[in-house]
Amino acid sequence: MAANTIAKVFPPKGDLVLEQYKAKHKDSITDPNGFWEKAAYEHLDWFEPFEEVLEGSFEHGDVRWFSGGQLNLSYNALDRQVRSEKANEIALVWEGDEPDDIRKLSYADLLRKVCQISNALTATGVKKGDVVTIYMPMIPELAMTMLACCRIGAIHSVVFAGFSAEALGQRISAAKSKFLITADIGKRGGKSIPLKKIVNDALTKGDCDEVCQHVFVWERFHKGSESEPTFEMGPKDIRMDPLVAVQRPYCPPARMDAEDSLFILYTSGSTGMPKGLLHSTGGYALYAKMTTQITFDLHPGDLFACVADCGWITGHTYVVYGPLLNGSTTFMFESTPVYPDEGRYWDMVQRHKITQFYTAPTAIRLLMRYGDLAPQKYDLSSLKVLGTVGEPINPEAWRWYYEVVGKSQCSIVDTYWQTETGGHVITNLPGVTPMKPGSCTLPFYGIDTVVLDPHTGKELTEPDDSGNFEGVMAIKQPWPGMARTCLGDHERYMTVYLKPYPGYYFTGDTVSRDSEGYHFIIGRMDDVINVSGHRIGTAEVESALVAHPAVAQAAVVGQPHDIKGQAICAFCMLTVGYEESPELVKELRMSVRTEIGAFCTPDLIVVTPSLPMTRSGKIMRRILRKIVCGETDSLGDTSTLADPSIVQTLIDKVTSLK
Ligand code: WTA
Repeated sequence: MAANTIAKVFPPKGDLVLEQYKAKHKDSITDPNGFWEKAAYEHLDWFEPFEEVLEGSFEHGDVRWFSGGQLNLSYNALDRQVRSEKANEIALVWEGDEPDDIRKLSYADLLRKVCQISNALTATGVKKGDVVTIYMPMIPELAMTMLACCRIGAIHSVVFAGFSAEALGQRISAAKSKFLITADIGKRGGKSIPLKKIVNDALTKGDCDEVCQHVFVWERFHKGSESEPTFEMGPKDIRMDPLVAVQRPYCPPARMDAEDSLFILYTSGSTGMPKGLLHSTGGYALYAKMTTQITFDLHPGDLFACVADCGWITGHTYVVYGPLLNGSTTFMFESTPVYPDEGRYWDMVQRHKITQFYTAPTAIRLLMRYGDLAPQKYDLSSLKVLGTVGEPINPEAWRWYYEVVGKSQCSIVDTYWQTETGGHVITNLPGVTPMKPGSCTLPFYGIDTVVLDPHTGKELTEPDDSGNFEGVMAIKQPWPGMARTCLGDHERYMTVYLKPYPGYYFTGDTVSRDSEGYHFIIGRMDDVINVSGHRIGTAEVESALVAHPAVAQAAVVGQPHDIKGQAICAFCMLTVGYEESPELVKELRMSVRTEIGAFCTPDLIVVTPSLPMTRSGKIMRRILRKIVCGETDSLGDTSTLADPSIVQTLIDKVTSLK
């Protein structure tokens, strides 16, 4: 791996600091109980102390943290700050789609509003343990609604507002969610997104109409309690703004057990049905708090900007919970990196004096394309730490981020983690860990990473010829932020994460670890592709294609893409009677948009007379992957195919389409 040879470009403050990290890390994994017990009391306020630190094991899938302890996340994120003299400090700065649409809320404002929302939900019958689906744009009310759910013990399930009615319906139905919270419209890049209309449509899918009983609607441009609704009211609809306005601005926080469910978040896996990963209150709160503070070297007065959407785990942990649990100021962003132009991020950094900025490699690659001028036009001197997440960052993009954006003065933190891990599991720490472009470097405290042999499942002990350990990325012991189960399907949780390599948590990624213990993530081992940092299950896209009557069979693979990292390439075998045409290809693209969402639209659709299948009927995706990557001289053994001649047909077809 070329990046391994790149010199350490950011020398640590002194080797001592790195040594201190190493010693502390070692302690954290040799005495996890001692480490996490101390951390839990230091970082969080508890209503009731816990009885045990860690119980259960990976083997049995019954891990639990801080049992018997009682706390409330919203109390820790809001009341705790208000009580420690932060009442008037800004908790949240929001910038809407238009750069002059700005709102600032203090901790006291946020607490009052969250309490009002909590009371509004309770008044409508939302109870502890109910699943509340949230389908909202990136407006402050989204963060407040999430916090209100935590306050009353309702389990939120945020569905990214880019998902289609079909996908939303599937998630409402799977979680048996009686309550849905949305907004009339969303705004992105100057366009309006009719969220309430999509919700209406979602409720016509499957058993959603039966399952979902109340739809709360925020109005994006609400004009006061006397105003007419901005949307057509249906029998289940409740206008959120007027309901919230009449509520008492205090609501006592629910006393939650540390292991009470906090939220679910759906994520793609190897099957067509996304998994609802369930996080617990105490462990998640602690892990979100600590990783935000330590990875980003947060200090009082910092303005922390994570530009992810709350529809993904990054938005949960690093827009909402982590920064607020630390009492710092979080920045919430509704728009895109290129609206109104490619200087948007840097303009925001200058205007708000952002100190930590956190984005994905795909955005960096996109902005890099426009050249150095945009970042050079703005004063970026407030920046201290630049974060990246979602996929491996190529060293070229890393360097641009480091040199052009950070002026070689900032640390780049390459944070490796997953929806399942709750927070960062491998990352460098600013000024502590020497950086290597393309490496997420060393594990966070309490994380015992191992590289396994994919065949034997044993930890690799001997490096390969280049001195690296390359294999399965796994974690050897539980950590507080880990998801505990898949909602309603613990067997699936066991099968996907804990059974593949007994005794270890299986990440689904492959890694190369160098002689200094630095991790370089290679990519997914399962049928998940990473498009612009979004995890997309190939099976989900395949079922969206097969939903079209013209498609008899589909096989989806990832193909390398300069900006997105990977793009979706779909091979479709048509039903007898259908002919290939540009219109049909357009319809198939549309089918994916309506079944899942526009962000999953395939870049390339290859209509083919058949697919490379084994004699037993299994599609050999390995061959398709090689064909789209142009690696046709290393196709491997094709003799087991039922019809080996299909390979050449596909090569010709793909070449003609590219
Ligand atoms: C990938 C996003 C390399 C990885 C927080 C993982 C990364 C998946 C990095 C999780 C990184 C995330 N370097 N790869 N710094 N961060 N990944 O659940 O494949 O949306 O398994 O969580 O993204 O994606 P998820």
